[in-house]
Order: sequence, then structure tokens, then C-alpha cells
Amino acid sequence: MVITPRVGILGVGQRGLQHLAALWRLQEMGLVRVTALGDMYPPNLEEAKIRRHVPSYRQGQIRCHTAFESLIVDGELDALYVCIPPNRHNGEVVQAADRGLDLFVEKPMSLRLDEALAMDAAIARNGVLAAVGFQQRYDGWHAAVREFLSEKRIVMATMVHTGSVESHNEKHTPTEALGGPASRVWTAFQEWSGSSAVEAGIHQTDLMRYWCGEIESVQARYVARDAPLVETEGDNPMAYSVTYAFANGAVGHLIMSRLARVFHQEDYLHVLWDHGHLSIESHGPVAFYYEGAYPPPSTPPTESLQHPLCTADRGDSTLEINRAFVEAVSRKDPSPIRSPFRDALHSLAAVLGANASSERDGERVFLADLLENPD
Ligand SMILES: NC(=O)c1ccc[n+]([C@@H]2O[C@H](COP(=O)([O-])OP(=O)(O)OC[C@H]3O[C@@H](n4cnc5c(N)ncnc54)[C@H](O)[C@@H]3O)[C@@H](O)[C@H]2O)c1
Repeated sequence: MVITPRVGILGVGQRGLQHLAALWRLQEMGLVRVTALGDMYPPNLEEAKIRRHVPSYRQGQIRCHTAFESLIVDGELDALYVCIPPNRHNGEVVQAADRGLDLFVEKPMSLRLDEALAMDAAIARNGVLAAVGFQQRYDGWHAAVREFLSEKRIVMATMVHTGSVESHNEKHTPTEALGGPASRVWTAFQEWSGSSAVEAGIHQTDLMRYWCGEIESVQARYVARDAPLVETEGDNPMAYSVTYAFANGAVGHLIMSRLARVFHQEDYLHVLWDHGHLSIESHGPVAFYYEGAYPPPSTPPTESLQHPLCTADRGDSTLEINRAFVEAVSRKDPSPIRSPFRDALHSLAAVLGANASSERDGERVFLADLLENPD
């Protein structure tokens, strides 16, 4: 049986609004119905405020709830999106799964692995579908890279993300009323975000797993922010160096920074296999390898070594991850979901493991041990 799913969103902040915009487009195509919104902070449910971010939004019959219980009891829902800061979870995912709702949970699903494992157990015992918000898996370029690398002997992946304190996005949680930062930029603070490696680096980590396979262990060192800077810049580290060991023998590097007074960001995504390099260039992914008789009589011209992977548009990954989830719910079929909750647990364990390693002066942390003994 195919249904037109009725969905609700818990947490109508930055990410909840982005999902609402995507779901609104899918609703206009007749693929889904948004029936309920929930947020602890009433101003975030006001139609005029939502329309500043999603201009075509009309509240109409949509029910708005400030209490979670009334959202899942009265919401007339088949599925729920959970888009609240990762330190604010209080059993919502477990309760929604116990009511049989399919779930879309934003990354990082929690800052505590034991809490994320309890979510996973509830999802499994209720047989509900569950996706995590790793939309990078739906980027057309990234999907082409995965396909290209699928048969290769990968030896190294390197992802560099140098960000700035200024590039933290506008947030909507009233953190000042919850013992958090007055600025509302909760992503700059460890208690709320885990660290930038957890909050942001989980995307690059998940992409490495999508391309290179399972991560076995992690070692990390962070450079703490100097105390006088914390008040204006937040207390997350300034720089992160994370090394992953993959089950297939490859090594991975996640190198990140969050510095103030920079206003500038750079990204570098690079993978090596036994006989070639691949990098994401401004115009798309390009592989560099030689494919003639070996050894060649002379060094081949550089142009002959460059192989652009695809010229296709990379698409709107947030729209596509929503389309996939809605399709999965409508058919009660998990196959369109590229980031199932159980799989996403390993990306979460990797970045929480990086935090744990950094706290232990770079000690090697095995993810299987973490998932066995999350305490
Ligand atoms: N996939 C991505 O690219 C992406 C991008 C941004 C954010 N996120 C993730 O989405 C989640 C939400 O982040 P955000 O940027 O939308 O934050 P935000 O602060 O902008 O919005 C969170 C919303 O949830 C509400 N809220 C907070 N706690 C609540 C609770 N216990 N019950 C009900 N409502 C509650 C707040 O009032 C706010 O409206 C985070 O886990 C974040 O990491 C993912």
C-alpha cells in the first residue's frame, strides 16, 4: 500500500525550517502532507516568523504544539522530524518510535552514545523507519564518487574544513533562557555542540564512511581555545586533527579549524586509491590516473591523466534527502534511505570517539569498544 505520509517537525529552528521548505515543495507535488509543528518556544511557531524563512508557508490546518506529548498524540502523524539541539533530547525519539512513527533525526542524534543507542533500540523494537540528516550522501557529485570508488583499493582519505567563528549560522533556540549562551550561537559551545568535530565534522566523517567503508578506530588531538577568547568566541577548540583507521586498512584525516576574525572558509576533499587520486574541484569531482600500457615510453601529459567523473548538476541535497525519506515512508520501504539510523550510529561513534581520544592525549579509541561500552 502506498500512502501520502502525514509528517510533523519537532524543532522549527534553522534546520527544521530548511526541512519545512523542502517538505513544502514535496507537498506541492502531492507527495506528503505537513500536518503538525512542535517547538518549545511559541514565537518559533508563529506563521509570520516561519514565512520569513519559508515564504510559501501557510499554517492553514497545520496544528502547532509547544508540548511534545500533544504533538505526538494529536498530531495525526505517520512520521516525525526531530530537529532540536543534540543536548536537548529528553526521550522524544524513543517515545515517537514507541508510538509507531517513522523518524527523521537530525545529526548529531545525541551527544551521548548511550542515549543514541537507546534511540536505536526503540527504532528496532518498533520496526519503524529511521533516517539521519546526512544530506551529503544525496549530493550528485558525492554519489558519483562513491560509485567510482566502489571497486577500488582505497588507501587514504583527507578532508579539510577550515571554518570561522563568524560562519556559525543564525540559531533559534532561546539558549539564554536555558543556561546557554546569550548569543544563541550554541554551536560554538561544547556543552551544546559536543565540539565542532561532533557538530560539523560528523558530515565529513560520514562522507568518508560513505566512500571508504567502516571506521575501526580514531586518534585525535585538539587545540583548546585560549581562555580570554572564550567569552566572545565560545569554548570549542580552535583546531582539530583527527586520524581514522578504516577496517579495509585505509587511513583517514579530518582536519578542521574554527578561528575568529577570519570570515573565510576552505574545504578540501581528497581520496587516494592504490593507483590514483580523486579530488572535489570547483567544477566537480576529478580523478587522476594513467590508463595506458605501463610503463609508458615517456611521462604522459597532465591532461591525459585527468578524468572528470561527472558533469551533472550536484542537485539540492536537502530536497533529495527529504524526497527519499517521504518515499520510504509512503511505501514503508527503507531502500531509498541512504543514512539509516543504525548506520549513522557509526559516524556518531567516530566523532564522539575523537573527543574521547583528544581528552586522553591522543589515545587510540576503538569504535566497537565504544559502542559496546558507551559509558
Ligand atoms: N544536516 C545539516 O546540515 C544540519 C544543519 C543545521 C543543523 N543541523 C542539526 O539540526 C539540529 C537542530 O539545529 P538547528 O540549527 O535547527 O538549531 P536551532 O537552535 O536553530 O533550532 C532548534 C529549534 O528547536 C527548538 N527546541 C529546542 N529544544 C527543544 C525541545 N526540547 N523541544 C521542542 N523544541 C525544542 C528551538 O526552540 C528551536 O526552534 C541540530 O542537531 C543540528 O546539528 C543539521
